[in-house]
Amino acid sequence: MRVLLIGSGGREHALAWALARSERLEKLYIAPGNGGTGALGENVALDVSDHDGVADFCTAHGIGLVVVGPEAPLVAGITDRLRAAGVPVVGPSRIAAQLEGSKAFTKALCDEMGIPTAAYGKFTALAPALDYLETRGAPIVVKADGLAAGKGVTVAATRDEAEAALRACFDGAFGDAGAEVVIEECLVGEEASLFALCDGESIVLLPPAQDHKRAFDGDEGPNTGGMGAYAPAPVMTAALVDRAAREIIEPAIRGMAARGTPFTGVLFAGLMITAEGPKLIEFNTRFGDPECQALLMLLESDLLDLLEATATGALSTVSPKWRHDFALSVVLAAKGYPGAYAKDTVIGGLDTIGSDDVVVFHAGTRREGDAVLADGGRVLNVVARGATVAEARQRAYDAVAAIDWPDGFCRRDIGWRAMAGTD
Ligand code: AMP
Ligand code: GLY
Repeated sequence: MRVLLIGSGGREHALAWALARSERLEKLYIAPGNGGTGALGENVALDVSDHDGVADFCTAHGIGLVVVGPEAPLVAGITDRLRAAGVPVVGPSRIAAQLEGSKAFTKALCDEMGIPTAAYGKFTALAPALDYLETRGAPIVVKADGLAAGKGVTVAATRDEAEAALRACFDGAFGDAGAEVVIEECLVGEEASLFALCDGESIVLLPPAQDHKRAFDGDEGPNTGGMGAYAPAPVMTAALVDRAAREIIEPAIRGMAARGTPFTGVLFAGLMITAEGPKLIEFNTRFGDPECQALLMLLESDLLDLLEATATGALSTVSPKWRHDFALSVVLAAKGYPGAYAKDTVIGGLDTIGSDDVVVFHAGTRREGDAVLADGGRVLNVVARGATVAEARQRAYDAVAAIDWPDGFCRRDIGWRAMAGTD
């Protein structure tokens, strides 16, 4: 089969790596790909915002499956165009992608289906939002409704901080994404990520994962796209996974189907494990990055079979096998990330790394001759597998030590919650 994979990050390098292990893969195209994906397939400079152009590419190249990595093309409706052209695609329709694209949309579905989530109010003007704030007090969470590249959420410790966040939204700090604002109860507990492949009706759960969103050790500093992840996350016991599936993921899938807008693709539930049980923080409609990198190190089954079943409504016929190991990914980012950072710095030492249990995925790199150059904020993901979290972590950090990149940094404590009490 010929496959087109859309995206350019570490998630997409990991997806390319796992797809390339399939005996059924005839040819892989990655649009646009990065300095790592070119070794596994052909990087193509397609404009993914031009949906007609992508559909034409699929027809011209006999593409049998399209896998969409990031959220932006999903929210823009690329899958609707591809399905209209008869191309099987992993990813939700434009409407179903609103589960990621609009927090108010998700909250309405939670209300409709009784999905446990933070209590909330939804506002399109400052004055009623400030009134609501007075009645709720702090701590409280202020969210721009639309996609804001992870920057639209303020967990406000004080009322003043919440007011400043509200004013920023309504002053246009997030453009259209902030025209509507959700104010919600601050949930307390440990966070976890649960992913499900969905074909509209059936779901297949992946092992639970946990990521580290803050830039610095000890979960300090600014929010990022994710500085590391591991799976399975011990906080998610089998009973909690079961409960989250029954109370959160399955009702969402049923609700979307009942509305006549079934969800297909990857449903990513960001959960808070509260004293009352798992509650939904947010849905995303794609694999998490860098959770995906760790999860794919645990997958024994053929990813192409699984994704094809997702795209063609055949998930009830598959049951993937996972290794009984742990996998952990450490993100190497350019110094300064998530603020301003330098590009084109030289990365060395990559040739010395790589074994059955350790893989380096490229997240933001490009090649110039034999050189690998940094080309983004999050630049590399070192992913390792082990019989315990501690073993996976040791292997990952040993590999990090072999990378020669003075312009990068990483967190040194990925997996600390899982290690607490075992050190
Ligand atoms: P999001 O962009 O929705 O993933 O939010 C980013 C981060 O903000 C989450 O990973 C949580 O750490 C935090 N957060 C979001 N909503 C809440 C909430 N209702 N209560 C506590 N923390 C939250
Ligand atoms: N790592 C979280 C995300 O991909 O949104």
